[in-house]
Amino acid sequence: VDLAVKPTGGNKTSPIFYGLMHEDINNSGDGGIYAELIRNRAFQSSLKYPVSLDGWTPIPATTTLELKKLASPLSSALPYSVSVSGGGKAGKIGLANSGFWGMDVKAATRYAGSFYVRGAYKGAFTASLQSALGEKEVFGSVEVQSKSVADGWTQHEYVLVPVKNAPNSNNTLAITFDAAGVEGTGGLDFNLVSLFPPTWKGRKNGLRVDLAEAFAALNPKFLRFPGGNMLMGHTLGTFWRWNETIGPLKDRPGSDGTWEYPISTGMGLIEYMEWADDLKAEPILGVYAGLALDGNYTSEAETDHFVQWALDEFEFLTGDVSTPWGAKRAALGYPKPWTIKYVEIGNEDWLAGRPTSYDAYKAYRFPKFYNAFKAKHPQVQLIASPSVYDGFVAPADVVGDWHPYLTPDGLVDRFNRTDRLTQANRTLIGETAATHPNGGLAWDGPLASNPWWQGSVAEAIFLLGTERNADRVIGACYAPQMRNLNRWQWGMTLVQHAADTALTTYSTSWHVWKLLGQHVITKTLPVTVSNGKINPLYFVAGDSEHDTTIVKLAVYNSTTPVPVNLKIESVEAGTAATLITLTGPADPYAINDPFLRTNVVKETTTKLVAGEDGAFTFSLPQLSVAVLETEKK
Ligand code: AHR
Repeated sequence: VDLAVKPTGGNKTSPIFYGLMHEDINNSGDGGIYAELIRNRAFQSSLKYPVSLDGWTPIPATTTLELKKLASPLSSALPYSVSVSGGGKAGKIGLANSGFWGMDVKAATRYAGSFYVRGAYKGAFTASLQSALGEKEVFGSVEVQSKSVADGWTQHEYVLVPVKNAPNSNNTLAITFDAAGVEGTGGLDFNLVSLFPPTWKGRKNGLRVDLAEAFAALNPKFLRFPGGNMLMGHTLGTFWRWNETIGPLKDRPGSDGTWEYPISTGMGLIEYMEWADDLKAEPILGVYAGLALDGNYTSEAETDHFVQWALDEFEFLTGDVSTPWGAKRAALGYPKPWTIKYVEIGNEDWLAGRPTSYDAYKAYRFPKFYNAFKAKHPQVQLIASPSVYDGFVAPADVVGDWHPYLTPDGLVDRFNRTDRLTQANRTLIGETAATHPNGGLAWDGPLASNPWWQGSVAEAIFLLGTERNADRVIGACYAPQMRNLNRWQWGMTLVQHAADTALTTYSTSWHVWKLLGQHVITKTLPVTVSNGKINPLYFVAGDSEHDTTIVKLAVYNSTTPVPVNLKIESVEAGTAATLITLTGPADPYAINDPFLRTNVVKETTTKLVAGEDGAFTFSLPQLSVAVLETEKK
C-alpha cells in the first residue's frame, strides 16, 4: 500500500486526546489504586451493606471483637467502632486485618499507620505486619506508646519498617495491647485503623505506586471521574455524594458504591484532583445529574437542588477563599483553587430511554444544569453524557459523550464514524473497549473475561479513526481501566492487580493505548492511499509539537503481511525515523493471562531511513499496531 502524507491541511488536534476514566469498579479504588491496605478500616455501613467485621479477626481467638454504636462515637460519619476485650484475662490481646485479599510486605519500607482508640490504657500497643497462616511470622513491628484515655478518642500514629520481605501477600496487620494495662475489664474501642505503604509522589492518603505509574506511562491528558455508574448509584438515594468524600477520613461515612461492594470514599474528590495534578492531566469532573441506574430520575423540583449541589461542588474545587465553598476547601488545607475546564453533566443519561427527562430542548434535567453553569461559569466546556450517537441533540457549545463498547468488528466498522461530526456535535469518547468477541451475541451475551489481542487491535483502529477527527473528538479513554484479580465485575481492563505487587500486569490493550498515547499528534495531516481504500491498513498522520511527523497504523483482516510504502512529503530523502510495532501471536484470542503473567504483545523497534524517493518502506503483519515517528525536521 502506498501512503502519501501531505505537508499541510488536516486539523488541529484536541490537546487532551488520550486520557483516563476512573470509578471504583473491580476494586480499582479500594483495594486498587487507593493505597490503603486495611479493608473495612472504619466499620462503615450504607443502605445496602450493614456494618460488619469483614476483614477482622481477634487475637488470640478467645478475644471478643464486638461492633458497638457508642454514645460518643469517633464522629457522626463513623458511628460504629469495635470493642476489643479479653474478658478480664491477662495477656496480649488485639485484632488483625487481612487487607484486600492480603497485604504486600516489603523490607526497609516505611508503612504509615494510624488508629483511633478509646479507653484508659497504660502501656504500649504493638503494630505488626505478620503472616496470616499457622505459626505467625513477624516481618516487622513497632511499639506505639498509649495516649488513650477513658472518655475520648485519641489518634495514634506510627511508622512501621519491616525487617524482612514477606514471601507472599498472605499477611495481616495486627494491633495488640496488654490487657493488664486496661483500666477495668471492659477492653478498648478501636476505629479508623489505617496503614499506607509509600504512595505515588508521596501524597498523604495517596495512590499505590505501581498502579499509578502504570497509568502515568500512558501519558494521559485528562482524568474523567468519578464515573461511570459510580456517580449515579443504583437508586436515587445512592449516588456519589461528593460532599461526603472530602475532609478528614473520620468525616467520611462511605457509600454503597455501584459495583457490588461498599466503598470507603477514602479516594474522594480532592484525591481525584490531586491525581489529575500529579498526572498533569485536565480533570473532567462528572457531576450527578439526577438519574439512577434503576431508571428513576429526579423530578423537576428536585433537580434544582442537584443543580445547586453541582455548582457548590464546582465552587468547592475552584472558588477562591472569598466564596463559601472555596473557604471550606481552604479550611481543609487546600487554599489554592483548582481550575476545571471540563464538567460532564451526569453519566449515560440515555439509559433512561427516550424521550427522557434529560433532553436538551424538551425536558428539564440537562437544560437546568446547562443554564446554571452557562450563567455562572461560562468558561467551562460542558459535556452532555449522551452524544449524537445516542440520538442526543445538544446545543452547539456542548460536547457529547459516546461510550462504544463493541465487538472488534464493531469498532473497526466505526473507523469512519466520526468523520461526519461537525463542530456543532463534538464528542468525548469517555469510555470504550472491545467487550464481546466477533460472531457472538454482543450485548445479549456475556462480557469477554479478558482483553484479547484482536480486540485491542480493533480498539487501536477505532482510535486512529477518531484521532483523524480530533478537532471534533475531544478525547478518548478506555474503561474500566483496572481490575483486582480477587473480585471484578468487568473483565475489560488495562491493568490487572492484586495485593502482591508482583501480580501487577498489563493487558494487551494497555500496550496499545500506551503506544498511541505516548506519540502525541498536535495537528493531523491528510493522507492519500494508492488503492483508494482503507481496509486492511488503517492510519492517521500528523505533526507533533517536537517538529516530527507521526504516522500511526494498524492492520486488521489481512491474510498476508501488508507492505507499506510511506512517503511523508515534508521530509527529505535520508531522513531517519523510528518504527515501533506491536504484534501478537497467531491466535487472535490470545490474552495477557494475569495469573500466568504472560505477555503476548511483542514490541519491536526499527530504525528506518527515507529512500531516494523520500519514502519509508516496511511491512506490517495481520493484527499489528505501529507508530512511525520521524526525527526532528
Ligand atoms: O465502565 C463500566 C461501565 O460502563 C460504566 O460505569 C458505565 O458508564 C458504562 O456503562
